[in-house]
Amino acid sequence: WTLPPTIRQVLSSSGTDQVQLCGWIKSVRRQKNVTFAVISDGSCPTGLQAVLSNTVSSQLKGLTNGASVRVSGLLVNSRGTGQAKELQVDSIDVLGECDPETYPIQKQTLSVDYLRDHAHLRARTDTNASILRLRDSLTKVLQQFYERHDFCYVHTPILTSSDCEGAGETFRVMPSSIVPSHAPVNSDSSDVPSSEFFSKPAYLTVSSQLHLEALASSLSRVYTLSPCFRAERSQTNRHLAEFWMLEAEWTWTREVNDLCQLVEACLKDALILGIDEEERRVLAKGVPDYEQRLRCLEDAASSKPWARLTYTEAISELEKYATSTGPKASTFEFQPVWGRALQSEHERWLSEVLVKGPVFVTDYPSSLKPFYMRMNDDGRSVACFDLLVPYVGELVGGSLREERFDALRSRMSALGMDTEGEEYRWYLDLRRFGSVPHGGFGLGFERLVSWVSGVENVRECIAMPRWARRMLL
Ligand code: 4AD
Ligand code: MG
Repeated sequence: WTLPPTIRQVLSSSGTDQVQLCGWIKSVRRQKNVTFAVISDGSCPTGLQAVLSNTVSSQLKGLTNGASVRVSGLLVNSRGTGQAKELQVDSIDVLGECDPETYPIQKQTLSVDYLRDHAHLRARTDTNASILRLRDSLTKVLQQFYERHDFCYVHTPILTSSDCEGAGETFRVMPSSIVPSHAPVNSDSSDVPSSEFFSKPAYLTVSSQLHLEALASSLSRVYTLSPCFRAERSQTNRHLAEFWMLEAEWTWTREVNDLCQLVEACLKDALILGIDEEERRVLAKGVPDYEQRLRCLEDAASSKPWARLTYTEAISELEKYATSTGPKASTFEFQPVWGRALQSEHERWLSEVLVKGPVFVTDYPSSLKPFYMRMNDDGRSVACFDLLVPYVGELVGGSLREERFDALRSRMSALGMDTEGEEYRWYLDLRRFGSVPHGGFGLGFERLVSWVSGVENVRECIAMPRWARRMLL
């Protein structure tokens, strides 16, 4: 049993064949004796040019942009330029007509805002379809990378009882019809009433990390690609309320540098294998400084190791620039100060101006980072890194995890977290029973797509974006 071929499969096959294909009309050009129609089924960036004799096309109503069709014909080498093959159509059926007057996806360039307002039709544009194929391709490349390094792909929960990052950006969920807590949920319930869960607050996950740590305590190397949710109020081109994160957790490692190497290796795979020339050409169309971005990506994909700076070194470079005068005087809005978070302008300056490429910034002050990061010997910084890349800023965040029971418990207590209660008992158990040095990281998938594609805003890097005050469909 085989599926009928897609246009991509047909175009990459050799020889001339009789084929039947389905797709949507992308454009129609009528000439005296023939009509050319480009048909796309979304399987590849280029559509297939169908050549219809006027005897075929004249019998036909509804051959307009957006209409869905089934065509049969002979696939031949094209005599025209612009495509290697074309289809000499014997028969064509319009399966779904599309009124050219009212169809929202017109041929002319449509604004980003207009397309966001038409989220259900946006995937029909060349750029958005290309972005969606890029997501698919990056997922596969990264999965192959982790498979090759013997990481186990695991599925972590979306509903959680804790706020991993402690940033108070969780969404709380509750049942849409409130069940009275005394109502029996099912007659063979065990000792714990199952209704308890519904009367207890539940949150959408902000990160799978804590659960990955539990699984890494058995499987050693684990990773997942999962949606994450943050009630993020900042309206930037890097933040979504629902985004996808690739997270990996790795036991037996004691060095932040090892984690950085792993991240660098998987991202180089993504840069080299994740996107092909044809997709690049489609994506380049909407990006004014594409050539410059492309050079930057090619440089990052080379074998040259990515730069590393400690947070303290980064602050000192930022301070130097912030106080510089003359033609290269600082453009910072915020003063860099040791102990304060790096602003997005600082992150971009470090990667775009100072390093001119990706840079790992390591060993941030513990006060800026979540409770689980491993304390360094200096007692004030943690064994962590952020990967900053040009045009995007922070792409990955990771750390060694505090595996020492006493150190973790006292850090949690100092932060006012309940170390005796149910919420984190299980997490402390991981340190009570067979604790191991370990670490991991989270990579923002839409930010990766934005970096690789050159598409400026993460809202265009996901099919149906959600952000503060915006959730269509
Ligand atoms: O730096 P973050 O918050 O790190 C964590 O959540 C860790 N628990 C991950 C781990 O170690 N397993 O998030 C990781 C990455 C960021 O570097 C960024 O790329 C992305 O997730 N990210 C977002 N992407 C889009 N919209 C948002 N609101 C994002 N918040 C974080
Ligand atoms: Mg971070």
